[in-house]
Amino acid sequence: MLIVTNISELVTNNPAPGATPADPHSDFLGVITDATLVVEDGKVAWAGPTSGLKAGHPQAAEVVATQARQAPSALQAKGQEGGEGHRVIDAAGQAVIPGFVDSHNHTVFAGDRSEEFAARMAGESYSAGGIATTVKATRAASDDELEANLVRLMRQAQHSGTTTFEVKSGYGLDVESELKALELAARHTDEVTLMAAHVVPAEFKDDPDAYVDLVINEMIPKATTHAKWIDVFCEEGAFTEEQTARILQAGIEHGLRPRLHANQLTDGGALQLAAKFKCASADHATFASDADLAAAAESGTVLTLLPSIEFSTRQPYPDARRYFEAGVTVAIASDCNPGSGFSSSIPFCLAIAVRDMHFTVDQALWAATEGGAKALEREDVGHLRPGARADFSILDAPSYRYLVYRPGVQQIGAVFCEGELIAS
Ligand code: NIG
Ligand code: FE
Repeated sequence: MLIVTNISELVTNNPAPGATPADPHSDFLGVITDATLVVEDGKVAWAGPTSGLKAGHPQAAEVVATQARQAPSALQAKGQEGGEGHRVIDAAGQAVIPGFVDSHNHTVFAGDRSEEFAARMAGESYSAGGIATTVKATRAASDDELEANLVRLMRQAQHSGTTTFEVKSGYGLDVESELKALELAARHTDEVTLMAAHVVPAEFKDDPDAYVDLVINEMIPKATTHAKWIDVFCEEGAFTEEQTARILQAGIEHGLRPRLHANQLTDGGALQLAAKFKCASADHATFASDADLAAAAESGTVLTLLPSIEFSTRQPYPDARRYFEAGVTVAIASDCNPGSGFSSSIPFCLAIAVRDMHFTVDQALWAATEGGAKALEREDVGHLRPGARADFSILDAPSYRYLVYRPGVQQIGAVFCEGELIAS
C-alpha cells in the first residue's frame, strides 16, 4: 500500500453532481482539500479528506498512525518498498493532480529542424513540406537511434508530469519504416497510431492514390499487431477527404479505431468527416465553424487542441470558449514533433491554453487529464477516482493553479505511474 497524505489540494476529476467543464463555474475537477490518497496494487483505493481516512480506509489510517513518513524526494527508485511493504509519503502541504494524458505525439523520428523553426520565427510560414526532411533522416536512422530518441523524449515528458503518452508513426512512409516505427513505439506505450497517411512520399508524388492503396492494402493489415489507432492528415497538401475516408474505412475494417488531423491549416471538411466516422478525436481543429463544432458535439468526437502548435507556427489560437459553449468535449495535447511544435511539456501547453485560448485554469487541467483520456477512449487514466490507475504528480506548489500561475517554472515535483515513482 502507498499512502500520500498531507495533500493541500487533491484534484480527482470526480465531478460534483451535474458539474461539467462546459460550465466553467461548476466543480468538475472534484478538488479535495487537506486530502489523503491511498493506492493498492497500482490503483487508487481511496481518495478523500484526511479527516475521513479512519472511517473510509481504516487499514491505511493505521499505517499512517504507525509508520514514519517519507518526503517524495527521499523515495527510492521504482520497485523499492518501505517497511512492511507500505509507504507513507508526506506531500508537505503540496497539491496532487492526475498524470497528464498526452494523446497526440509524433516521436519516432531522427534529424533536426531547428533551422526551419528559426526561419519561421523570422517570417517564413509553416507548411507540411518540412515533413519530407524528417522522413529522409528517419529512413536513414538505425532502430537503436530511433528508439533512443523516443525514450529520451518520453522521459522528458514524464518529468513534465505526463504518464500516458500516445505515439504515431508517419516519418517512414514506406511499409518497412512505418511498421518499424509502430514496433518501437509499442515497446514503450499502449497508445500506438498508424499515421502512414501523414504526407504522400516523394516517390509517389505523381500517383498519390497508389500510395493510398499501399497504406490500405499493405500497411493497415500488418499494423494491427502493434497499433490501436489509424490517423490521417486530412489537409490541402496532404490527403483529400476522399482519400482520408478510404483509409479510415480500411483501418476500421481491420479493427483500428479512427482519429484525425483535421482543420489545422484550412477550414476544409475534415472535422465533418471526423464526425461522420465517429472518430474518437479530431486534433488541431484550429479552424472550426459553428457547424463543425455542432457535428463534433453530436458525434461525441473529442476535439483536441494543441496550443504548442499555434505557438510554434504563429497560426491564430482557437478560442476554446466557443468549443465548450457548443457542448464539445475538449482535450489538450502537446503534439510533440520536430516540425510544427517540439514541446512535450503539458504545463507549457496549459499556460498558452489559458493565456491565449481562453480556457479557464480548471478547464485546461481537465482537458489535459480527463479530456486526453476521453480522446484515447480510456477510462482507467486521467482521474483519481477509486479504481483508477494510480498515475499522479505531487507538485512543488500548494495549488494546481500554480501550473499556469508560474509558467516556465518546474512545478512537477514527483511523478508516479501505477503507484511507482517514475520521475522526480
Ligand atoms: O501534427 N500536421 C501534421 N503533422 C504534424 C507536423 C509534422 C511536421 O511538421 O513534421 C502536426 O502538426
Ligand atoms: Fe500531429
